[in-house]
Amino acid sequence: MNAAKEPKTERMKGGKPFLTDVKELRAKARVSIEKGAVTPAYQGDVTQTIEILQAVLATEIVCVLRYTMNAVAAAGISSDSVKKEFDEHAQEEQGHMRAVAERINQLGGTPNFNPEGLAMRSASQYVEGNNLVEMIKENLVAERIACEHYRELIRYFGDDDATTRVMMEGILVNEEEHANDMHDLLVAHEGKPMLSR
Ligand SMILES: [Fe+2]
Ligand SMILES: [Fe+2]
Repeated sequence: MNAAKEPKTERMKGGKPFLTDVKELRAKARVSIEKGAVTPAYQGDVTQTIEILQAVLATEIVCVLRYTMNAVAAAGISSDSVKKEFDEHAQEEQGHMRAVAERINQLGGTPNFNPEGLAMRSASQYVEGNNLVEMIKENLVAERIACEHYRELIRYFGDDDATTRVMMEGILVNEEEHANDMHDLLVAHEGKPMLSR
């Protein structure tokens, strides 16, 4: 085979050669093809990443359940706007749940949706709240836990698994909005923020 005709990636980006020889890259991708998206250049520990993502998945499922329950059960004066907010959050949490499950699948794992042990696997607790203010407060607590959890994991993954990190960065933006929404609702219903910063 004439090596000169092989597409080589000798272009420089920022002074650094990027990518190896395309032929080599293609050959590497063919080896252990059963590993799906996990290529030899994957810097993370796949087993550990999947384990971490299972806990994140459980946390998101609990969020879907809690917000859905709250959207149904919220009652009282001015509860309509709060219900709407809970509903929106439930939908967004479902999006997070799906994204995390898809990533587990990409990495060769099986997303754990088993209801058994769900609360144990989740980082935040399932607390229903007896009234509107309690519901908002519990959601704020859960959102703050989610934000902390994601920030820690984003630092953990760094460049070892950029795909998982970028996914989590996107979710974190959303979780911070959720925490902010809950905080604003709490201020509106209690007149003052209930959690110290
Ligand atoms: Fe979420
Ligand atoms: Fe959230």
